[in-house]
Amino acid sequence: MSVNSPLQDPLRFHRKTPPCAVVIFGANGDLTKRKLMPALYRLAYEGRLAPGFAVIGISRTPMSDDDFRARMHDSVSRFLEDSPFDEDLWRSFAQGLFYLTGDVGDAALYKKIGESLGGVDEEHATAGNVLFYLSTQPSQYGEIAEGLGAAGLAKGAGWRRIIVEKPFGHDLPSARDLNTRIQAHFAEEQIYRIDHYLGKETVQNIMAFRFGNGIFEPLWNRRYIDHVQITAAESIGVEGRGAYYQEAGALRDMIQNHLLQVMATIAMEPSATFSSDAVRDERAKLLRSVRILKPEEVADNAVAGQYGPGRVAGGAVVGFRQEPGVNPESTTDTYAAATFLVDNWRWAGVPFYIRTGKYLPKRVSEIAIHFKSAPLSVFRSSETPGESLPNLLILRIQPEEGISLKFVSKRPGAGMTLRPVSMDFNYGASFGERSPSAYETLLLDAIIGDATLYTRQDMVEASWSAVQPIMDYWAAQKFSFPNYAAGTWGPTASDAMLARRGHVWRTP
Ligand code: BG6
Repeated sequence: MSVNSPLQDPLRFHRKTPPCAVVIFGANGDLTKRKLMPALYRLAYEGRLAPGFAVIGISRTPMSDDDFRARMHDSVSRFLEDSPFDEDLWRSFAQGLFYLTGDVGDAALYKKIGESLGGVDEEHATAGNVLFYLSTQPSQYGEIAEGLGAAGLAKGAGWRRIIVEKPFGHDLPSARDLNTRIQAHFAEEQIYRIDHYLGKETVQNIMAFRFGNGIFEPLWNRRYIDHVQITAAESIGVEGRGAYYQEAGALRDMIQNHLLQVMATIAMEPSATFSSDAVRDERAKLLRSVRILKPEEVADNAVAGQYGPGRVAGGAVVGFRQEPGVNPESTTDTYAAATFLVDNWRWAGVPFYIRTGKYLPKRVSEIAIHFKSAPLSVFRSSETPGESLPNLLILRIQPEEGISLKFVSKRPGAGMTLRPVSMDFNYGASFGERSPSAYETLLLDAIIGDATLYTRQDMVEASWSAVQPIMDYWAAQKFSFPNYAAGTWGPTASDAMLARRGHVWRTP
């Protein structure tokens, strides 16, 4: 067992990779440019990559190794967030970058990959370890896994792992089908289904916050928590991804994966150890406890929205149906909200409201835990408007990462007037350190062999099961879209959904 084994390093201190080659399918795509390559470069900058390291990029676009290196140089220097770009380091990093042109449906491609891995192994001492990264169109994932398997590349002298980008399937049956196709060649321990929200520092910190402190756990249940609001608002539109987004929609793009995983992290039971399977068992258990809506319950518990023309950040923007690549009669949801109940002893009766949308007034992702009000208030006069305010705990995922606790306080003066105040923790101010990007964390984890922050098939299936009735119901609806103007907080039906239980969306 190496010192990097998650079992020997449960708290993840010694985080350096063993030698390996990373093979990226979809190397000419946006994700590679914006996220994967900057993350790998940053790992090199931090000295976390073993000297034996190489990347083989694959896509259909013809390119030489040098063209690929030049493109990656431009992308990394452009998209590297909050860290310096070092030309000298780049030169040595770029020597390990290679490129293959090919079609994933062509058996010859896999033969070339095998040969190239052999060469890279000799020249760069990658010890036969290979991480495949599937970042192509999702419809190609199954085919690539089969191509790798048929060419004998799922096994080798070292370890072989495969990262599958989201979305893992587009509904429950297709997620199962994709899994069967991948598992025909790769064992579950080799499969890393990525959900980049789980790699965010602030999402990982939910576990530290809940399980590293003693004072919150006694309150973390239906006796003290009234409801929970999870918001992931984006101020951008579909950004040239109209064709993909039109097939996905907000529910599939954000709720089925990222936000249900966030909810699972908030609501799961403490795990007995911090081992990958112990943590994932608890997440999976929570997701399986989410109540599945009956068809007749969907209308009251889920809301679809689509933006029309509006104003965002002072500028006029077109509606979704006018975006390039989008059908002018599209009924895709660019906003989705849903109420989930969790059928277990801790959470029975506590609604978890989740909402997400494109072109909302600001970019903000947060979890707001609304505690029950004091059972009896002695401050009843009309001068105490603050009295009805519940206590609120806000976990801010991004931006302005931090945690705030809201409570009421006496306003200085002769009278007994109450005012809401806030106790704040802010990452930047407290640590003064840069946080690694989610992809940096997750790539490092996969190369080390730590799957704690990756999703397992049972979790993927449980979260598809939770949204499947909503998708089925929406598929049969004739929505009158658009139903919110770009730059506003979504359709009014979303407010009505909360009002049914006497609640109001918080304005973040
Ligand atoms: C992706 C979605 O998974 O997450 C995008 O496909 C979305 O539509 C993005 O914009 C949001 O991620 P982040 O890290 O910017 O919150």
